Amino acid sequence: MSLTGRDLLSLADLNGAELQGILAAAKAMKAGTLQPHCGGKTLGLLFRKASTRTRVSFSVAMQQMRGSVIDLDPNVTQVSRGEPIEDTARVLDRYLDVLAIRTFAQEEVTTFAQHCRIPIINALTDAEHPCQILADLLTIQENFGEVAGRTVVYIGDGNNIAHSLLLGCALAGAHVRIATPEGFAPDPTVVTQARNLSAGTEVVVTTDPQGAAAGADVLYTDVWASMGQEAEAASRQAAFQPYQIKAELLALAKPEAIVLHCLPAHRDEEITAEVLEGPQSRVWDQAENRLHAQKALIALLLGV
Ligand code: CP
Ligand code: NVA
Repeated sequence: MSLTGRDLLSLADLNGAELQGILAAAKAMKAGTLQPHCGGKTLGLLFRKASTRTRVSFSVAMQQMRGSVIDLDPNVTQVSRGEPIEDTARVLDRYLDVLAIRTFAQEEVTTFAQHCRIPIINALTDAEHPCQILADLLTIQENFGEVAGRTVVYIGDGNNIAHSLLLGCALAGAHVRIATPEGFAPDPTVVTQARNLSAGTEVVVTTDPQGAAAGADVLYTDVWASMGQEAEAASRQAAFQPYQIKAELLALAKPEAIVLHCLPAHRDEEITAEVLEGPQSRVWDQAENRLHAQKALIALLLGV
């Protein structure tokens, strides 16, 4: 397996062995048995949307590996003044060693990748959030020993998290079920991609949250209105109410089931405060694992 020099724009860019390689490296880095050095290397962060976890975990990841980080805030670079992405990409390529981008359109990260030789990392687009799902799979692995064979159930909006979770679970050999209100299902192209990547495990899309939650090892949710959808937040409330993760829904999962949320969370909207703060929640470990998973990812893409 060699990820050196590659991009991570979608989890579908990886095969199962590569995904396992990232998780194994992340586990070793968390345990302190693997300590790669990125001395002299620079990570750029170009974020068009707000971020706490991704921004800080990428920065700390690079600093812990003795590399440096540059914040390419679009508002203080020429990016917000309309310099073509193709030009920005070719210039940044001459300075940086790796670039993580958070933006709206998936096409923008693809354009960066086409015009940069350095690795480009998708740090969230409207379509995908691959780095989040690396951390989620690491969290599932820590709790159950392995991801393969587990049933991961996502209840909520068929958004970027749902898409990357579909792909990541299929690649890792986990069963995956996505329950959304009518009209909010994940992109059928991504569902097909997940089915093609899976080696015979379940890839289910449904509107039935109770049916989906039955027997789950993992219950996962995310906000009902993502960044960029703020205007729809109020109108989505009624449609999504039956999809709230609450004690009654969690009771349908296995007794040892864990609860995940990528955060930020809206208590008593997509998840009750009781479940988020309850004994089955692993959200803080999940957030910590962003750091370990991204350290592994950066080190493997840089080949250090
Ligand atoms: N989960 C996640 O990506 O959080 P941030 O938006 O704070 O980076
Ligand atoms: N679906 C959410 C994830 C935030 C980490 C969003 O895109 O806003």
